[in-house]
Formats: sequence, C-alpha cells, structure tokens
Amino acid sequence: MAIYFNEENKHFYLEGKDISYIFRINRIGFAEHLYFGSRIGREDMTYMEQVGSGAAYVQMPNERNQCYSFYNPELCFYGTGDYREPTFSVKNPLGDRLCRLHYTGHDIVEEKPKIKSMPSLSGAQTLILHLQDELSLFAADLYYTVYEEYPIIARRIVYKNNSQNNLILDRAYSFALALPNKEFDILTLCGAWAHERQMQYANMHRGIVSIDSKRCSSSSILNPFIAAVSKGANDEYGEVFAVNLVYSSSFVLKSERNADGKGMLLGGINDFDFEWHLAPGDELETPEAVIAYSNEGLGKMSRAYHDVYRDHLINPRYVKSNRPIVINNWEGTYFNFNSEKLIEMAKAVKGLGIDTFVLDDGWFGHRDDDSSSLGDWFVYEKKLPGGLKPVIDAVHENGMKFGLWFEPEMISEDSELFRAHPDFAIGVPGRDRCKSRRQYMLDLTRADVRDHIVNTVNKVLSENEIDYVKWDYNRNVSDNYSLSLPPERQKEFAHRYVLGVYDICERIVNANPDIFFEGCAGGGARFDPAMLYYFPQIWTSDDTDAEERTKIQYGTSICYPLSTMSCHVSAIPNHQSRRSCSMKTRAAVAHLGATGYELDPTLFTDEEKELVKEQIKAYKEFSHLILTCDLYRTENPFEGNFFGFNLVSKDKSEAVFTCYRRHHGEELVKFVYARGLDPEKKYYIPERDVTLSGATIMNAGLEPYFPHHDFATDIIHFKEVK
Ligand code: DGJ
Repeated sequence: MAIYFNEENKHFYLEGKDISYIFRINRIGFAEHLYFGSRIGREDMTYMEQVGSGAAYVQMPNERNQCYSFYNPELCFYGTGDYREPTFSVKNPLGDRLCRLHYTGHDIVEEKPKIKSMPSLSGAQTLILHLQDELSLFAADLYYTVYEEYPIIARRIVYKNNSQNNLILDRAYSFALALPNKEFDILTLCGAWAHERQMQYANMHRGIVSIDSKRCSSSSILNPFIAAVSKGANDEYGEVFAVNLVYSSSFVLKSERNADGKGMLLGGINDFDFEWHLAPGDELETPEAVIAYSNEGLGKMSRAYHDVYRDHLINPRYVKSNRPIVINNWEGTYFNFNSEKLIEMAKAVKGLGIDTFVLDDGWFGHRDDDSSSLGDWFVYEKKLPGGLKPVIDAVHENGMKFGLWFEPEMISEDSELFRAHPDFAIGVPGRDRCKSRRQYMLDLTRADVRDHIVNTVNKVLSENEIDYVKWDYNRNVSDNYSLSLPPERQKEFAHRYVLGVYDICERIVNANPDIFFEGCAGGGARFDPAMLYYFPQIWTSDDTDAEERTKIQYGTSICYPLSTMSCHVSAIPNHQSRRSCSMKTRAAVAHLGATGYELDPTLFTDEEKELVKEQIKAYKEFSHLILTCDLYRTENPFEGNFFGFNLVSKDKSEAVFTCYRRHHGEELVKFVYARGLDPEKKYYIPERDVTLSGATIMNAGLEPYFPHHDFATDIIHFKEVK
C-alpha cells in the first residue's frame, strides 16, 4: 500500500520506491508538509514543528503560538501571515484575495482519476485531499499519485467554486513542494532554436528563481522542468528534488527561499496574462507535476523519469516497439522536389534497412517556400501529378512505408483557407497580426476551427496509405485573442489554446490508431511530457550536427527517454553548423535515439551505401536498448571534452557504451568508467576480444579507441557470459 493515513496524529504517509513523503493536518486544519526524501519509517513527525526565532509574526485567530509562516506548506495562501509565493490567488466578491483552505476530508482511490482536459500519467494509488475556505466556499482538491516502483509522486490541484458567487482565479498553480533546509542549486534546461535543452545552473538564493514561457508552447527557450540539486551533485552523487510539468503551454516554475532558509518549488500554468472565471459549481483542472527524488544524483532521477514515462505516459502500443527507421527528404531537397525526385530517393535507399520514407514540408496547396498554403491540405499537383499515390506506390515497391508532414495548427495568409475564413487566424480585430516564419496561427480555442482541422487532416489520412505522420509547429502564438471569448475572458486564451491542441491531437491520433505520430516544433520547441502522450517520439532539434547533438541529446535525456528523441544522420558540411563529422560519428550520435537519415541518398557513393547498410544493421541489433534501457551518463559534454552514454539492459545482461571525443589534441589517453553493469557478472567485450567482470570494467576502466581526428567516437559492447 503506497498511501497510509494515521487517524490519531493525522499524518499522511506516501511511500514509493526508496522514498517517503509525509504531511499532516495540523491543529488549525491546514495541510502541513513534514518530510520528503529517502525512505523512512512511519514515525510521528510532530517533532518537526518549527518554533521560529521569536520575531514578530502573524498569529492565526484563536491560536496562541501558531503562526502559519513557520510551517512548511502543502500549498500557500495569501493573507494569513504566510508571505511566500501563494500557490493560487482567487478574487472574492468583496474584491479581496484572502483565503484559508482547511481540511474537509480525503479519499484514497486505487485507480488514479484521469485529468479530463489534458494528458496525464496513468495508474497508481491516489490520495485526494479536500480543502475548503469556510467563508468563500472556494475549494481545492490536492491529488497525490504514488508510484510504488519509482521514486516518483505526481501532483496536481483541482480548484472549485462551491459558492453561489462568481469567483475569478488569477493564479492556479499545480503544486508547492517544500524542500529541506539545505543548500541547493537550481538546474533548468534552457536553449533556443537549434540549441535546445542545455543544462543551466543557478544558485538557489534567497528570493525567487523563476523560469517561464509566455509562448503558448512549452518552448525551446526553457523546458517545463526544474530541479533543486544539492551543491556539488553530479550524475551519481547528491540529492535531487525535481519537477517536470505535463503541460505544453505558457508555464512558470520557481524556487523560493525565505529569510529562515526554507525552500520551496512551485508552479504550473503561467499566471502572466491569466485569469479563469469560475461560475458557481465550476472547477479548473491544473496540469500534472511529476515530482522525482534522488539520493544518487541526476542519473537516478533521469532513470526514474524514463521508466515512469515509458510505463505510464507514452502510448503503450508504440512505446516499446521498434521505431521506423526513416529517410526524410527535408534536408535533402527542402521545398525543391517533385514525384520523380522522391521516387529516385526511394529507389536509392532500397536494401539499406530503412523502412519508412517521410515526405516533409511542401507537398500541398501551391507551396514552393514557407510563404504559402498552410491550411490547404490537398496535394500540390504541379509537384505531385496524380496526387500522392504514385509516390506512395513507388515507396511501397521499394519495401518501405510512407510518412507525411503536416502543420495542423497553422494558416498562411496566401491560402484558400485564409481567403475563405480570415477569422480563423488568431488576432485582435482592427490590429494587424504579427507573422512568424511568414505564417499565422489558427484559433484553436474555437470548436469550429478545431473541427475544420480534424476533418481536413483525417480526410488526407483516410484517403491515402499513410503509416507515419510528422506533426510540426513552427511558430509561437502572438496577438493572443479569440473572437469566441468575451473581453473579460481573454486572459483564458493561453490555456484554452493548449486545451484545443490536446483536443485535435486526441481526435486525430485516436481516429488513426495504426499511424505512428512523430511530434516536431521547428525542431524541439515543444518537447514536453504532454506531447509525448500523443507522439511517442519528437524531433529533438533542427540542428543535426553530431557535436551539437551530444549536448542537445544529453540535456534532453535529463527527463526524457532515448526512444522519445528523433535523431537523424544528415549530410556534411552540416547545414546548421557547417561542421563536417565522419559518417561513423554522425551515425553513432544519431543512433542514440529513434534514428533516421535526412539527406539526398541519390548522392551516396557505393562506399557510403555499404557503410549506411552496416550501421543500420548494427543499430537494429541494439535498438531494443534504445527502447527499454537504463541510461548511465558517464561523460558530460557540458563540462569537458567527452560525451558518454552507457545503455544497460534492465537485467544487466548487456550494454552498449557510446564514447565521443570532441577535440583530438586535448587528451590523447582517456579512460572511461562504464556504470550500471552488474559487478558480479562477467561480460565479453567483442571490440577488445576480452571477458571481464562488471566490477573490473567499472573500476579499472577501459580506453576507448578514438580515431585520430576531432569529433571521434568509439562504441563498446558488453555481453554477459554465463
Ligand atoms: C521544421 C522542422 O523541424 C523540420 O524538420 C522541417 O520539417 C521543417 N520545419 C519544414 O518546414
């Protein structure tokens, strides 16, 4: 049993693998946090009660010695002497924002209730804590789902209006997580286009450290992830308290540290430009926050996220099945192709082991560049006479499946759709709209616009033999406004936009269960757990340069499993960095995810074809590890000249260790120390023709055989010998 309630001292004990999370209902009736960390017994934690320094403080009415600000909270509310960041803010009919949420009861349910409007994790025992303000009848239900197999707890809050008055929420976060009084750094994943999810540390200083998105997407700028990491922690050592939001729109995540040293993580929907009207009886669901604890550094935290997302988030039909190995025409042709060229490309990869041909942007409307046709999801006859069929037939004849690109949320000014329905585009009446990548966005808060998208996309999918869809999203929202909302509800736009995204994803993905969907957002600008619920893999970055990718893929692996990262081998010089890496290195890095090729294969020499064939064969031999492995990161490319990923099978009977050296001259002799093997087991290493124990490999190390040039790789296999 993961959740236990002690009636006597009103303590809740939430127990997952290696972790305990303990809080109580205190004398005032507030939910008071007591402990979160490594597993401990079910003891009475009342001794944790904090008396403070005796300085002036606000006393609760009728409470001689009780002051709320001395507690660690399960959530914070404003106006009771608690001056920390409130978890929510609700405007009462008198205009004040005061609220005191008292415990009114709880339920423990075996099956986790689904969030109706948004993706969330499945399964596991859940505690629902009911809190209500006695005066305003504003209420909050706090959900805690405890995953016994992992050091993970999922939290969220449902805010409710149980009164007869209209109430307005102007902040509605998903959680507040009290931290122990220790020194932490804050780790976040920041970036930009073609530079996603770079590791960034800040001191968790007194005051607030805050990251957010105001883009109506989770964004490449800051991923919806934050972690408080003990000073000096690395992949193996140290404590980590982490939060990843299952949300794809404007979010905020913060750490706050008080004068007395107490810390807290909190966040959810961004409260900038946000309000939500709650009529009597209404409720607002907030996105789920997936909270992980590790006492063995970032590595254990990442493995916990990878496991829980594979087991409880990503479509079970695809999560552990071999991913299509694709040839994608984007970097090979950009917009400049026709049926003949595509058919030549399909023929050129025959027999190499590639199983899916993906036709990217430019097949519809009259699209020759990015200035037109988004929304016109019918075939561009000039490029593809007779429609998609001749190309699809040729792809099939060459032994592959067929995939197609869409950007369903967008509309070009130069499109039949815009000429017929200019009001479908997001914008404020009377104000010229901003363009980005020469396109506008569709107003997904509107049901009629969503129906139009679902019908037109599903029509193409039902009329053609399509096995794979790449769902792109190349710009962020501007001109936030919907014609369907009254002026006083315009601040609901950012959240309603993403509810619209989830609605169309749900309807398109569910209507096409045999189609494999890959997410994309001008590279990896919407790489978040909510998108992974619909799309088992996401295009990680438009930067396909192997050197840049070591950092992007390392940063992405902090939360997301390798199988979720779509990674392609592309031509040299690389189109983004102009760097030239060997085919061996390009494949070694791109094969650390759901792989493919993104170049013009008609330009392959015979020698290159042989190499690609061999590389794909080798990939297929270990691709089960991409889908299911425990990942042990050894060398951190943000800190030094090397990158190292050891992919270990769950039963520790095999592993593949990819080692990478950036610059040749810096360290000519380098030993690597694999992690995650069983010290007792014996492993055969084919590349060295030697059998060694896991203990020897991990402690004495191995020297990778790097070729003598920059950006070099060596791949080492470990196979158990019984
Ligand atoms: C951005 C994507 O990341 C690319 O892979 C490609 O699909 C282009 N969009 C097409 O416009």
